Amino acid sequence: MQCVSTTIQRLNHQQLTDVESKDFNIMTISIIVAMAANRAIGINNQLIWHNSNDLKHFKKVTNGHCVIMGHNTWLSLPGQKALPNRRNIIISDRLDEAPEGYELATSIPQAIEMAQNEEEVFIMGGGSIYEQFLPKADRLYLTRLDKEFEADTYFPYINFEEWDLVDLEVIDDDPQVDYSYRFEVWERKQ
Ligand SMILES: NC(=O)c1ccc[n+]([C@@H]2O[C@H](COP(=O)([O-])OP(=O)(O)OC[C@H]3O[C@@H](n4cnc5c(N)ncnc54)[C@H](OP(=O)(O)O)[C@@H]3O)[C@@H](O)[C@H]2O)c1
Repeated sequence: MQCVSTTIQRLNHQQLTDVESKDFNIMTISIIVAMAANRAIGINNQLIWHNSNDLKHFKKVTNGHCVIMGHNTWLSLPGQKALPNRRNIIISDRLDEAPEGYELATSIPQAIEMAQNEEEVFIMGGGSIYEQFLPKADRLYLTRLDKEFEADTYFPYINFEEWDLVDLEVIDDDPQVDYSYRFEVWERKQ
C-alpha cells in the first residue's frame, strides 16, 4: 500500500470573507463519492460494487457531521435507515414529511440554509445532487477506482484545473477487490 499524504489547512474563499467580516458562520461544502474510471457511480438505484474499505473510509470521513442526500439515494440505503452519528438531510420535492431520523429540505438552497451552522457538510449523492452541488463545493473526497463499470448514473465531469490535490492514498493491494483505487481529497483553487 503506497500512501502519500499532503493535507494542507487552508481557508476557502467564503471562510476568508467571513473572517474579514467577523462573521464566523463557516461552512465547508464537501462532496464525497466513489466513482469508477468512467465516472460510473450507480445502477438500478444501487451502488455498483462492494468495497468494504471504501465504506469504512466513508464512515470515518463523515462521522459526526451532517450528510445531504437526494431522494433516490435515501431509497437505496438499507431499510432507508438514517446514518448513525450523523445529521441526515434528504432533498425531495415529493416527500410530504421527513422520515424518522431525517430532516427534509425541498430545495438545494433550503438544504444549504439548514446546514449553515455546520463546520463541514457532506454531499453524499446521488448523480443529480452531485451535479447541482459540484459548482458550489469547496472540497471533494473522491474514491477513484481504476476500473470501468456499467452504470446508469454517473458523476459529473470535473475540471481538475479548478482544484488542488491536497491528499492522496493509493490502495493497490486490497485482496477483497480486483482493482486498485485511490482516496483523493481536492480543494477548490482560490
Ligand atoms: N458511488 C457513490 O458514491 C454513490 C453515492 C450516492 C449515490 N449513488 C448512486 O446514485 C444513484 C442515485 O442517483 P440519482 O441521481 O438517481 O438520485 P439522487 O440524486 O439520489 O436523488 C434524486 C432525487 O432527489 C430530489 N432532488 C434532486 N434535486 C432536487 C432539487 N433541486 N429540489 C428538490 N428535490 C431534488 C428529487 O426527488 P423528488 O422526486 O422526491 O423531488 C430527485 O428525484 C444510485 O444508483 C445510488 O446508488 C452512488
